[in-house]
Amino acid sequence: MSRIFSGIQPSGELHIGNYLGAVKNWVQLQHTHDGALFCVVDYHAITGNYDPAVLRARRWEMAKSLFAAGIDPTRAHVFLQSDVPEHTELSWIFTTLTPLGDLERQTQFKDKSSKVESIPAGLLMYPVLQSADILLYRADAVPVGEDQIQHLELARDTARKWNARFGEGYFPEPKPLLTPTRRILGLDGQSKMSKSLGNTVGLLETDDEIWAKLRPAVTDPQRVRKTDAGRPDVCNVYQLHKAFSDTETQANVVQQCTTAGWGCMDCKKVLLGNIVEELTPIRHRAAMLDAEPARILDALADGGRAARAIAQETMREVRERMGLDAVHPPRA
Ligand code: TYM
Repeated sequence: MSRIFSGIQPSGELHIGNYLGAVKNWVQLQHTHDGALFCVVDYHAITGNYDPAVLRARRWEMAKSLFAAGIDPTRAHVFLQSDVPEHTELSWIFTTLTPLGDLERQTQFKDKSSKVESIPAGLLMYPVLQSADILLYRADAVPVGEDQIQHLELARDTARKWNARFGEGYFPEPKPLLTPTRRILGLDGQSKMSKSLGNTVGLLETDDEIWAKLRPAVTDPQRVRKTDAGRPDVCNVYQLHKAFSDTETQANVVQQCTTAGWGCMDCKKVLLGNIVEELTPIRHRAAMLDAEPARILDALADGGRAARAIAQETMREVRERMGLDAVHPPRA
């Protein structure tokens, strides 16, 4: 059976893009794959300027949101990356195998580095650490959204290179597991929903907060008046219906939109109802966890212990195969 690993940055709230692209799939996969590992990747969240107190709070909130979204700590391991120092150790090893050009070609590096004056080397090395995250657990299946595909290609290259030099077949080549909602757009209908673009809808937001964002959301730009027929295939609100509404409602949306039966506001109200229905149990679980923080602490401690046990064994073997194990006098 394949081993599942995935990670999420604690760089803001868990939003519906993360949820539909990855975390909802994690919740399903934990039932079919024992001991899946889900990591709050805090070392990945320090490549830019940040406030330590804010990071501390966000790590907690992210862990809480994952449990609220349905990750069950008796089935899967949720842990903090910085609780397992082997991530950074393996990352260094992988930097020695990674061509600089491969890192400079990464789309996310090009995007992020173009926005800063002085580029921290950590931004360039980010995907190397990500390869280490995955390969440390010798995971072969990584449930992620579409934006992570290029990073996973690099992880596969790294596994191949290391295996060729130090141990054929040791690291599996990890494959992405994508969902039908692999790329959720922000409510501007233009760019990917993303923490850094500030166009997210949080999983724990209230109905009013969600409606305040959904009401002005961009729909089919050619539909100017309510009497104009709309084109669902170019409308981001319809894409969200596909994620949150049942097939009957989706068919009705197409019918009402293309015949100008509903206006966009009618369509958005139906969507709001279905988003709220899906998120309500998640909010309830989050409120329960707020009242019992020890459950989060215990789950993270257990998750960290389980992750360290696997990570330490991998590093023992990696060191041995690379000539970095216990030193001894030369044999005669
Ligand atoms: P991050 O924290 O940006 O996002 C976490 C997960 O959510 C998915 N996602 C989306 N899916 C669909 N539509 C969107 N708008 C959207 N926004 C985010 C991401 O694809 C991801 O699966 N580099 C990673 C974190 C990471 C990681 C890893 C992932 C570090 N090490 C090892 C997998 C394995 C990141 O920044 O994800």
